Amino acid sequence: MAKALLFSGTSNLKLAKQIARKLNTKLGKLAIERFPDNETYCRFDENIKGKRIFIIQSTCNPANENLMELLIIIDAARRSGAKSITAVIPYYGYARQDRQTKPGEPISAALVANLIKCAGANAIITMDLHSKAVEKAIRLRKKHLHALPVIIEYFRKKRLKDVCVVAPDKGALLSAKKQAKMLNASVAYIEKERITANKVVAHRIVGSVEGKNCIIIDDIISTAGTICEASRVLKNAGAKNIYVAATHGVFAGKALQRLAKAPIKEVIVTDTIPQEANKKRLKKLKVLSVAELFAKAIKESKN
Ligand code: R5P
Repeated sequence: MAKALLFSGTSNLKLAKQIARKLNTKLGKLAIERFPDNETYCRFDENIKGKRIFIIQSTCNPANENLMELLIIIDAARRSGAKSITAVIPYYGYARQDRQTKPGEPISAALVANLIKCAGANAIITMDLHSKAVEKAIRLRKKHLHALPVIIEYFRKKRLKDVCVVAPDKGALLSAKKQAKMLNASVAYIEKERITANKVVAHRIVGSVEGKNCIIIDDIISTAGTICEASRVLKNAGAKNIYVAATHGVFAGKALQRLAKAPIKEVIVTDTIPQEANKKRLKKLKVLSVAELFAKAIKESKN
């Protein structure tokens, strides 16, 4: 199969370069600029006619800008005669808008997939989508990766004793049980109630956490309301140290300040979203790379 050519949008250049390095290649030449009125412009500065190309772009904050940039790059690739176009989206923005909870609402996760398809992508490679609903909503050939092996490996290397994996809610209990098995740990869960989109109240713990090193693994930390509240409940119940890990560190609003104050020893996220600035603001933030997983998926892609 012809060699894959890698290109990157501007949202997560560091990860894109790491993926390229793992594949023993360099990112292709793609100019991305702004018109005076701030509209996005791009141009492939190398011949991609008849080539298999992979465009790496997380549609993280600013989601609309990054999504539009991705669409414009895909369009340029299609018009330049690329043989196949795969959108590599380590963080898929709008994924949480995956269903209509009230009449009159959109399903933005599906809209994003439709836009990507219409622009000319044949497939996507993404990671830890928020739900089965969003997975179904993306009607494009897709490879869905999971960061869990990287997170589990991190905790294994720590060699923590008396570990309890805590599910942040009952719905996450099945995943927590699997994680606990991988870490040879016990399991507990928190009964929680979400009052509004931005407000979560945690209630009580089902299981024993006293004197234990507690680990919460979630798909996303956004406002950090869920895990900060959970960490307080765990601390009050006598947990020793609390570690929280998530694939996507969105850190919206006052999330970093909240996490700094919460009784959490470490916050672990991956580099699906750039974290350089956040690392300076939150000393207990650790960032694990998922570059290897994306490089492997690109290498094995039949697209
Ligand atoms: C819930 O379904 C998710 O797995 C996360 O727990 C949630 O999206 C995190 O949001 P926040 O950080 O705003 O509480």
